[in-house]
Amino acid sequence: MKRILSGIQPSGKLHIGNYFGMMKPMISSMENAELYAFIVDLHALTSVHDRQKLAAGTLEAAADFLAIGLDPTKCIFWVQSEVPEVCELAWVLSTVTSMGLLERCHSYKDKTAKGIAASHGLFAYPVLMAADILLYQAEIVPVGKDQKQHIEVARDIAISFNSTFGETFVLPEAAISESMAIIPGLDGQKMSKSYGNTIPLFLEDKELRKRVMAVQTDCTPVEEPKDPDKCNLYALLKLFASPEKMAEVRSLYLNGGAAYGYLKQDLFELIRDYYAEARERKKELMVNQDYLRQVLRQGTNKARAKATVTLDLVRDRAGLKY
Ligand code: ADP
Ligand code: TRP
Repeated sequence: MKRILSGIQPSGKLHIGNYFGMMKPMISSMENAELYAFIVDLHALTSVHDRQKLAAGTLEAAADFLAIGLDPTKCIFWVQSEVPEVCELAWVLSTVTSMGLLERCHSYKDKTAKGIAASHGLFAYPVLMAADILLYQAEIVPVGKDQKQHIEVARDIAISFNSTFGETFVLPEAAISESMAIIPGLDGQKMSKSYGNTIPLFLEDKELRKRVMAVQTDCTPVEEPKDPDKCNLYALLKLFASPEKMAEVRSLYLNGGAAYGYLKQDLFELIRDYYAEARERKKELMVNQDYLRQVLRQGTNKARAKATVTLDLVRDRAGLKY
């Protein structure tokens, strides 16, 4: 069985980009993999400095994950900061990570350009992420395309450690689905919590409809043909509509007759129905926070047991045992 691992930041409400890029692939591998899923609160700390928001976001992200079907008895599910071994490993790895490798990371440049403070934590983010992956000797890491470079960095850091101190780490590989690699947001850019352009997973109807109506479209009149492959409304519809419905919609785009207002109403209804059961489950989970904490604590114990084995080996290899 392959060891599959991925994490998600509790830096805001989880959205349909997170769902298709990472959460859904993780859930589908639950039956035939050794699965590690976690909430990366230490990473979120690079952009959220609000105690209440981070703590509440962590619990809510846990509820989201369980609501969409993650079964904690079939995986290891925990909160990153509760396994402090990851920070020690990140430090050790940082000593075999070249500045140039981190300087080439797009995510740091993109985030600072969007106004996130250029802290050391944000710059060193990929090293902590490498520690996340290597600590559990993960083989496959399901992510959206924005994280591809970070997985390559993790791989490079593993190679660097192995060649400095001897074979220690498994080399991880990203698993990215071509069709789900970049889900567009309301404005057509990558949907992201940090860009304020998301459709969160479990909005109430009124709020969800408002968001969907805010999907940006061009001003081509209804009767004129439009290019479906350049339209983010079309890309979002494709995630939820049946192939038959999409064939119909495509023909309207190509031949004229695609009315954005009606298509947005369709999208609203499709999203509402798709997550209807999960939304109810989440409500139940949110009123039972002790249960959520208990699930996460159990996950922490299992994760920590794995983490200490790797860290012990790392300490030995690096000369931190005397
Ligand atoms: P965000 O950018 O919203 O803060 P995260 O950084 O927490 O999201 O990402 C969690 C996972 O979801 C990652 O694997 C990431 O690649 C994936 N993901 C995030 N946004 C998208 C998107 N728009 N399309 C596809 N995958 C995405
Ligand atoms: N950096 C990832 C993101 O923003 C989250 C993350 C942290 C992660 N550690 C990880 C993803 C380890 C996969 C594996 O999406």
